[in-house]
Amino acid sequence: MSDITQLLQNNKEWSEELKSSDPEFFNELSKRQTPEYLWIGCSDSRVPANQIVGLIPGDIFVHRNVANLVVHTDFNCLSVLQYAVDVLKVKHVIVCGHYGCGGVEAALQDQQFGLIDNWLGHIKDIVYKHREELSSLNEHDKSARLCELNVLEQADNVKRSNIVKDALKRGQPLQVHSWIYSLRNGRLKDLSKVTKQE
Ligand code: CO
Repeated sequence: MSDITQLLQNNKEWSEELKSSDPEFFNELSKRQTPEYLWIGCSDSRVPANQIVGLIPGDIFVHRNVANLVVHTDFNCLSVLQYAVDVLKVKHVIVCGHYGCGGVEAALQDQQFGLIDNWLGHIKDIVYKHREELSSLNEHDKSARLCELNVLEQADNVKRSNIVKDALKRGQPLQVHSWIYSLRNGRLKDLSKVTKQE
């Protein structure tokens, strides 16, 4: 059996297993989704949103891109944010980065990678903004700190969006969280309370 056929087989087993524990699961879920969380994370295969927070289908709305960026002109990400906030009325937006992020580390290098350089430019802006703090760190710590700073900056971008500002103005309960994930131990850390260095 080829690997790709195995995936279809896995899917069959997974759906049957879920149905055996809750026969109405898919039937109910097909009618509506009412997730309380929006996850904005990295595309990295090692950081699967649902699995690392123990949520099942229907529980979390997800947007992922390289290095979990929230760019004010990215209609893809903004459309997800708008739908999640205005229509689904999620209560939490979680921006989740991870240590050892390839996108973040690429932005630290003085090297060209092609098309993605335009995307990584947003992280290079963060490097420049925090150049003093970053310049005092060794290579490992610099990468780790930039992964954190990137999450904080992207969460700020979420907060500064008209979508979130309007939601808060009309009194909709909504919190924005800055989380970072460790590939080494599978644990999440809440960065919201870390003091941001300007
Ligand atoms: Co990454």
